[in-house]
Amino acid sequence: MLDVDPADPDPGVLARAGEALRTGRLVAFPTETVYGLGAHALDGDAVGRIFAAKGRPPDNPLIVHIAGADDLGTVTETVTPLARRLAERFWPGPLTLVLRAAVSVPADTRGGLATVAVRVPDHPVARGVIGAAGVPVAAPSANRSGRPSPTTAAHVRRDLGDVVDLIVDGGPCAIGLESTVVDARGDEPIVLREGAVTREDLEVGTPQPGPEPPDAAASPGTRYRHYAPDCRVILVPPDRVGDLAATHAAQGEQIGVVVSDPAAELPEGVEEVATFGDAEHLARILYDVLRSAESRGLEVLIVEAVEEEGIGRAVMDRLRRAAADGP
Ligand code: TXA
Ligand code: MG
Repeated sequence: MLDVDPADPDPGVLARAGEALRTGRLVAFPTETVYGLGAHALDGDAVGRIFAAKGRPPDNPLIVHIAGADDLGTVTETVTPLARRLAERFWPGPLTLVLRAAVSVPADTRGGLATVAVRVPDHPVARGVIGAAGVPVAAPSANRSGRPSPTTAAHVRRDLGDVVDLIVDGGPCAIGLESTVVDARGDEPIVLREGAVTREDLEVGTPQPGPEPPDAAASPGTRYRHYAPDCRVILVPPDRVGDLAATHAAQGEQIGVVVSDPAAELPEGVEEVATFGDAEHLARILYDVLRSAESRGLEVLIVEAVEEEGIGRAVMDRLRRAAADGP
């Protein structure tokens, strides 16, 4: 594990990480969203090592990270006017664009699809590492499949410490949730995964409420349950937290809560795992909270729901996945 100053990373560390990537190794590095597990995106063997390390289903494609919008043409076949517009407005940043793939992108990177997902991250370490690599870098979240995404280097080490060649520690991630994924092949953006670039930012409407968006099949990752905690996650409106905690506590269960009001009276024996100020704050701490609920041995984690607007939509999307009973 190599530490760097997130604002001004040591060029020597970036060069080492870049060299490792170029020669087919796995390097975990911070982005503004979550830590990524990087490999040379155009090297099928290197990409194969990502799937093996994560235990990731082979039909779940990876996001390819590039240094700037000018490099879009190296991994895509056609850059639509919509993609250009979105790239100009939101890159570098937490937005991933799905476009037709260039032939140079191995099928493994694309999960066998004809498209490729591309993003320019907004983090000095990520950009430095990609720049030093000099190649496009495929990077899924650096967790084992089924675990919450990592937002610190310690999370990465816990999940993948024995299989990753290098972890660059640039401190905690500022956003805490994965990027917004948008299909940018047409005239209008189609949101495949919610994130910090919101529907309001993109000026697209909200889908009908329901368990899955109608276009979910277009983004294979959204089919999988992202996080199967040992601890049961229950999402409730703010005014129900106390009652529900009391009910579960009365059954002798180990209960934790995540609430917006630190002054709220909690029933005897109920742990306050975290408090948050707003949806943005909850986004930043969410994955660490889910991991810590598990390590504290909690049986039930009751989380206060946030408004489904702005980044609140992405927060609720991830919480619903964590709370889902099915696969
Ligand atoms: O913020 C992020 O996006 C982080 C950081 C490291 O950049 N990466 C990340 O990657 O979250 P991952 O692999 O955990 O999630 C990628 C998502 C999955 O839901 C996947 O199915 C979708 O993007 N995706 C990738 N390629 C796609 C494609 N060609 N078409 C549709 N969806 C795609
Ligand atoms: Mg992931």
